[in-house]
Amino acid sequence: MVNQNLKTQLSQLLNSLCFALDIAENRYFNHSRRTAYIAYNIAKEMGLNKDDVANTYFASLIHDIGMAGHLARYTIMDIHKYMTLKKEHCHYGYEILASLPIDKNIKDYVLYHHEQWDGLGPYGLKGDEIPLVSQIIHIADFFEIYYLRKLEATGDDQNLNTIDSAKIWISKYANNLFKKDLCDTFISLLDKEKFWFDLNFRNIEQVLELIEPVEDVYIDMDDLYKISETFSKLIDYKSKFTYEHSQGISNIAHYFATFLGYDLLMVNKLTIAANLHDIGKMVVPLSILEKPGKLTQAEFQIIKSHPYYTKLILKQIEGIEDIAEWAGNHHEKLNGRGYPEKLNGSRISREDEIIAIADIYQALTEDRPYRKGLEPLTAINKMIEMANRGELSKEIINDFKHFICNSEVLV
Ligand SMILES: [Fe+2]
Ligand SMILES: [Fe+2]
Ligand SMILES: [Fe+2]
Repeated sequence: MVNQNLKTQLSQLLNSLCFALDIAENRYFNHSRRTAYIAYNIAKEMGLNKDDVANTYFASLIHDIGMAGHLARYTIMDIHKYMTLKKEHCHYGYEILASLPIDKNIKDYVLYHHEQWDGLGPYGLKGDEIPLVSQIIHIADFFEIYYLRKLEATGDDQNLNTIDSAKIWISKYANNLFKKDLCDTFISLLDKEKFWFDLNFRNIEQVLELIEPVEDVYIDMDDLYKISETFSKLIDYKSKFTYEHSQGISNIAHYFATFLGYDLLMVNKLTIAANLHDIGKMVVPLSILEKPGKLTQAEFQIIKSHPYYTKLILKQIEGIEDIAEWAGNHHEKLNGRGYPEKLNGSRISREDEIIAIADIYQALTEDRPYRKGLEPLTAINKMIEMANRGELSKEIINDFKHFICNSEVLV
């Protein structure tokens, strides 16, 4: 049992995950947010009870969570075109959500969000066998991708005919993709000018802040620890070259922090920071992450954004500001030559350095496409050279050397 000295709101965590999903490579900006808005309004229009409306909102906010990890390489269009990918992202999303401390129905809603009324969806559920919330997410998701995006691409979204053409468009799918009643409810929403104004990219974030269901559900340190483990795998599985990178760092950070005498709470917070330190890599294109040769300056500039996004994503969650700092500062250097904030020694904490050192050691000792991983002592010697150049503190490298030499787990 981990020290419980942490309380953070689950809705903030889901929001920050939704943000990470929407800014990730191959995804549509604000897709999850707009899907959540549409689904929420359909649920309200149908008169669902308060809990079901809230579940509809949160399930649609993270309905595409299964598009992360090894599926990150596929575009949204590909995932929706091929039935195997459709099924895979639903199933993967279900598995990820099973490890989160959320209402257990939510994972089922996500599992079945591509089922069709006529039974031709990935799991073959038919008609009312499909959970209603899944049906709602499906129609909202479908409309967001295939109608709104196309409308915006043609620049026709201010056209007064839009409402009529949207109604005709959605009616075509009654009784095949969607239940007729659901289409009718949706069509009644389309008459409201507010519905269209709210969906504008410039407004959607503020609009969601106004409608977000009040959910006083908090997660504790144990939950956050488990969530961070799940996410470390999602981050690692994006590329075959990093398939155990975050998990390796988390191992090192855990044992090194223990070696340094930190209490259990701090050890766990540092391990969580290690698990999440590369979450910003969701934004970096795979073609850059997996490029075998030397990166161009422009490509390196993009790589440099990943700790920036790590901090931006994690700072959305109140109560873990310190974890967000340590995770986001893992490429800063004591001499001010790191990135992305060019912090210098006085602004870099010991905890920042622990994550940075774990990252450097793991990177040096793991195999890369163009070289084999270094032996532990060779890696340490390289790190001593870095300390001599003023990049890392000599004192902590010294501690790290003792730790590695005495560690049966890591050597
Ligand atoms: Fe989906
Ligand atoms: Fe979607
Ligand atoms: Fe990194």
